[in-house]
Amino acid sequence: MDISNSVIIGTPFRDWPISSSREEVYAAAAFTVSVETPADIAARDALLDRAMGSGWRRKASEKLRRGRVPAQGLAFIARDLKGDVVGTVRLWNVVAAGLDDSALLLGPLAVEPSLKGSGIGSALMRHAIHEAESRGHGAILLVGDAPYYERFGFSSEKTGNLAMPGPYEPHRFLALELAEGALDGAHGVLGSGPINLVGMV
Ligand SMILES: CC(C)(COP(=O)(O)OP(=O)(O)OC[C@H]1O[C@@H](n2cnc3c(N)ncnc32)[C@H](O)[C@@H]1OP(=O)(O)O)[C@@H](O)C(=O)NCCC(=O)NCCS
Repeated sequence: MDISNSVIIGTPFRDWPISSSREEVYAAAAFTVSVETPADIAARDALLDRAMGSGWRRKASEKLRRGRVPAQGLAFIARDLKGDVVGTVRLWNVVAAGLDDSALLLGPLAVEPSLKGSGIGSALMRHAIHEAESRGHGAILLVGDAPYYERFGFSSEKTGNLAMPGPYEPHRFLALELAEGALDGAHGVLGSGPINLVGMV
């Protein structure tokens, strides 16, 4: 596998039995995070079905994604060292009244069920947030479990005047400002944002 454009992330080796071979430990403990390619789509969707059930396609967030491509450079996968897709996260351009073009919706985030708790979800989140910030995006919104996402700085503090275009639980509608004040004055129902023309070609 070519990992030259990937970030290699390993979980601590201290929990591994002393009898594990070096190869076993390395293969199971390390993974890479890289930009998703068209060749990853089938494996990514199969992973989403395994991790979330087929219901992920019916979520309110999906209304903002259907028929579109993610924001430029902001779809990521994690692979194990065999090259198999073991994690996925994407970010999408969204708009609302009082919000500039730089806001993003994150999701779905999912990790291979047998590898939960290995740090893959956190690595994908931190990488996605860092890349979004580097590209000048002002805020990231998502619908998810606050006890998980608050460790990355997300809260419902700034989403009270915003709404998703479909059923959702307001306490799970969370946001992270990448630029201070980016969500001040934002209100109304989220809509799909500018089309990423690069991703369409
Ligand atoms: C949620 C998910 C992406 C987390 O990925 P992961 O690689 O297992 O997470 P990490 O290893 O980075 O982090 C593990 C930590 O998150 C916690 N955690 C995981 N899911 C959580 C949740 N839904 N709520 C609160 N905490 C959660 C774990 O308890 C663990 O806590 P600890 O660090 O205190 O031990 C993964 O479990 C998953 O794919 N779940 C199914 C799909 C899903 O629910 N996606 C998110 C929609 S909200």
